[in-house]
Order: sequence, then C-alpha cells, then structure tokens
Amino acid sequence: MLTKWIIERKRDGVELKPEEIEAIIQGYTIGEVPDYQMAAFAMAVYFRGMTPAETAALTKAMMHSGEVLSFDDEPRPSADKHSTGGIGDKISLILAPLAAAAGLAVPMISGRGLGVTGGTLDKLESIPGFNVQLRVADFKRIVREVGCCMIGQTATLAPADRKLYALRDVTGTVPSIPLITASIMSKKLAEGAATLVFDVKCGRGAFMRTLEDARGLAASLIRTGAALDRRMAALITDMDRPLGASIGNALEVREAIEVLRGSGPQVVRDLTIELVAHMAVLSDVQPTLVHARGTLARLLDKGQALDRFARMITAQGGDARCLDDLSLLPTAPVQQAVPAPADGYVADIDPDALGRVVLELGGGRRLATDTIDHSTGINELAAVGTRVAAGEPLCRIHARNAEEAAGATAKVLAAIRLAEQPPGETPVIIETISEAT
Ligand code: URA
Repeated sequence: MLTKWIIERKRDGVELKPEEIEAIIQGYTIGEVPDYQMAAFAMAVYFRGMTPAETAALTKAMMHSGEVLSFDDEPRPSADKHSTGGIGDKISLILAPLAAAAGLAVPMISGRGLGVTGGTLDKLESIPGFNVQLRVADFKRIVREVGCCMIGQTATLAPADRKLYALRDVTGTVPSIPLITASIMSKKLAEGAATLVFDVKCGRGAFMRTLEDARGLAASLIRTGAALDRRMAALITDMDRPLGASIGNALEVREAIEVLRGSGPQVVRDLTIELVAHMAVLSDVQPTLVHARGTLARLLDKGQALDRFARMITAQGGDARCLDDLSLLPTAPVQQAVPAPADGYVADIDPDALGRVVLELGGGRRLATDTIDHSTGINELAAVGTRVAAGEPLCRIHARNAEEAAGATAKVLAAIRLAEQPPGETPVIIETISEAT
C-alpha cells in the first residue's frame, strides 16, 4: 500500500480503512514515512476531518506505536483524569492522592507547560527532590504500594504521538478534533488506566475557547473511548477565569496542600471532588455520585488524601516535610501586593493575561529548552465577585526582582476589571457527559 495513495484518498474525502491508518502510523513511527508525507496527511485530516471509526483507528494505531501498560493485575481498579489545561489548574496534585485514598489505582503520566505556565510535572518539581523520571517498573510498583504515582512521558509510550505532535506544531495542524482526540487518548490509553475522566476546559484561558469547540472535543473523546472499550466521562469546565487563587508552580503546590488539608479555594475543592466522584462511580468503588461526593469530602477533611500525597512524595524521592513546613518550597525574593485602584466588585479576570504575566515572571517556558523559576507567580487572587475597597490587595506578586514585580503589577491591573455591581454567578462545571449517576 503506497503512502501516497492513503494521502490522496484522505485528500479526496474517502473514509480510510483501519489498516490504511495503521500502515501510515506504523511507517511514520519507524521512520519509513517521511515528515513531508505525514505533514500532507495531517493537513488532509485537518480539512477533511475523520469519521468516528477513523478517529478510533488512528487512536488505536498511535496507542500501539509503543509500549502499552496494563494495571489489570492490580487489586484496585485503575482510573485517571486528563485536563486539556488551563491557568491555575493544579487539580491533578489533589486528585491523584484523593482518588488513591478512595480505593483507586492512579497511574498518572503528565506533561510540562509550553507557551504558558508550568505543567503538572513542573509543579511537582517545586517539591525538593521529587523525581518525575522513573522507570516503568518503579512507576508500577509505586502505584501498587501507594495507590498513585505521577511521572513524565516515557520514550516508549505512544512514540507516534510525540513525533506527530511536534510535526503538527510547525505545520498548522494542531487544531483538528480527530488529531487532538487521537493524541490525547493514545497517551492515556497506553498508560493503562481502565477508566478515564476528562476535564475539557473552555474559555479564554483554554485551548478550546468556545463552548461549541469544547463540546465537539468532549464528544469525540467519549465516542473514541467507547469504541475502544473504556469507561469514560467528560466534564466541560470554565476557564474564562483562573482556577483558584494561585498561578505559578510552588504557589500552586501550596494551594493544593491547603485543599488536601480540607481548606483552600472552594472552587478547586469542588471540581476535584466532582472529577474523582466520576472516576470512583465509573470504577464501581462508589455506588452513586452523591455518596462519592460525601466520602471524598471526608477523606480531604480527615487528611487521608494528604497522607497519600506524603507517601507518594516520599516514594518519588521528594521531601514530604514541605507539607508541614511550606518554607521548604521555593520562595521568591520579592513579594508585593497589588492594591485595588478603586472600590468595587471584581467583575472579570482575564486568565490568559495572568498566564502571560506568570510566564514573564519566569514561571513558564516559551521554548522547550527554557528553565522555569518555580518560586514566581501570583497568589491570594481575589475571586470574581469579591467586593474590594480601594487600596485593598487584589493579589500578591512573587517575582525575582523589583523591576519584574513592577512590570507585572501594571499588567495584572489591566487584566482585572472592577465594577460597581456584582457580576452574575458562573458555575465552574458547565456540562457533564457521564454514565455515572
Ligand atoms: N494536547 C495533546 O496532548 N495533544 C494535542 O493534540 C493537543 C493538546
């Protein structure tokens, strides 16, 4: 089967057979299909789209391009969550130990941030000594012993995605729902979790800016998971404002610790509980969502999720004393409050603008080779709807020097709108697609 024919058939809008999709992905993974042919194929998919059967075949082929882990021999059911990413999204840090405390096995493979604030791995690396580069055997052992383990992508899991994603990034073919679906799902399926819950973020601080796009991606993920026999749920959640009160690596770890202690921003606690509730019900460790929510709230309030987090940190070489002594986490030399310029209600916070501020403070990376400053960012951010008096702090900036802090202050003020009237309430969970009840 000539690669050129497969590209031509896709270009002409013909539905490809699974073996054609498998051939092009296999050939690309081993270097027989060159980048220029794969780029043409990706562009044909971008314009022609894919049917659900084609998307499922693409996902399967990419998943099987490398090692596929299995947790079927685990006594606990395996489950994981994937977020499409947003500003201040530290949910994974709380979710994995909470789900483990609830009786699930959570084998979580996460990424680093690029072009925005740090990813989950960057946040975890704020913890002194924490190692995200484990061998697969150690990853599996820690999942068995602790109930959760969080590592970075290995060279052997879904290698076709690593190659194809880099190619899509430079050929204008990232925003294609079938290609995004196969990219996300192939990695998550190769990781071996039986149940998957997706947090599809929607809004100015997200990859999917409109509800229509977020719905399209959520539906495609669910359809593909069902075709590949996985239990799945997707929550479409608000990213038109930052999630919680902290943005920046060590600052987000601090906020996650607060939530694991039973306090912290309510919105972060509520969303984490909801995502784990779906994981737990779909995995049959909880009978109903209502029951699960109560159990999970108690696990947070009694410190049982925090205890799992401590065990996971220790198992991964980190210093768990930072949970009791936050001064062991990286701390920025300059910390200053941003005073409200007038009385009013916080009516809007642009998450994208604040993400850029944190990137410029050193808390994210523009290029994959950039190093991150784990200490910098923004915290104590007043939530939308808060009433403030002139001079009261809207947030606190953590910077490497006074000059960067001053530059950030002006940009933060431009990103936060005050109004005389309180804004309407906006729920964090916009829509839920799940069989769990
Ligand atoms: N994240 C991924 O992992 N893949 C995509 O294609 C887009 C976002």
